[in-house]
Amino acid sequence: MTIKWYPGHMGKAHEQIAELIRKTDVIIEVLDARLPASSANHLLAELRREKPCIKVLNKNDLADSAVTRAWVQTFRKEAGVRALPLSAKQLREVNQLTRLCMQLAPTRGKPGRPLRAMVVGIPNVGKSTLINTLAGKCMAKVGDKPAITTCPQQIDLRNGIILSDTPGLLWPDMGDQVAAYRLATSGAIGAGALDYTSVGLFAAEFMMLRYPEPLIHRYKLSGDADSAVDILEQIGRRLGCLTGGGEIDLHRAAEAFLRELRGGKLGRVSFEEPEQYVEKTIER
Ligand code: G4P
Repeated sequence: MTIKWYPGHMGKAHEQIAELIRKTDVIIEVLDARLPASSANHLLAELRREKPCIKVLNKNDLADSAVTRAWVQTFRKEAGVRALPLSAKQLREVNQLTRLCMQLAPTRGKPGRPLRAMVVGIPNVGKSTLINTLAGKCMAKVGDKPAITTCPQQIDLRNGIILSDTPGLLWPDMGDQVAAYRLATSGAIGAGALDYTSVGLFAAEFMMLRYPEPLIHRYKLSGDADSAVDILEQIGRRLGCLTGGGEIDLHRAAEAFLRELRGGKLGRVSFEEPEQYVEKTIER
């Protein structure tokens, strides 16, 4: 099954992002730590040029720590790029981002010379959560609400940083079908764009190959589950996803399984590792 998902308004995004980058000191690219390559968009890499960029590996609480460490090492090799794993819901972790911005633009963040940071990323990676935590932090610090300037997409954090929010400007690259399935597994692509059963089968197969123990343990899988359909059927039976006639409802099984996987019920899971990303970057 091929996932097709082409949002209509991508045309102007290129121009808008380029214009914003020109006015920005530090780019904060929010990625999903479980799939930092598939949740990126190559447009930003092309337009960024020399601008310092912090790749925030968000939702780190859900990702496999060893794999995240490997991603940080990989990104560290890119000129002008720093990678910061964090959970956007955790103020203590988000504070590191403020410090890193200041380090990357040391001549900014002073009265009359605010540091202009741009938060960008595909939908659902946690941009709003991150901005809210940053803004909340500012509130806690100065006992005052952060000012939202006349332009609704600019937020003055009142700590020397002005954030530009870029809602809806960046979309995932959907040409690569495996990346699309990973995005769908993580929940980054909305329910209307995918067939739950095929994504559930993809996820079941991935888990059996990469993280078999938590899968077998949680759903008490028997040893004869040797195909994705078998695995999903066993999960469906375990979770009580049956049709009126008592058959296993694979669609409901996929929904329930993906909900558990996304919610961290199978432990910390990363859906991709840096190797393929490095190969692709070299190809470009
Ligand atoms: P966006 O602006 O990039 O579109 O993303 P948004 O902040 O709306 O976050 C998308 C979902 O990801 C939200 O869940 C949010 O709570 C969750 N999220 C963001 N950051 C983190 C994180 O660091 N860790 C975890 N585990 N989840 C995170 P939701 O279910 O859509 O909404 P809600 O019910 O949590 O409010």
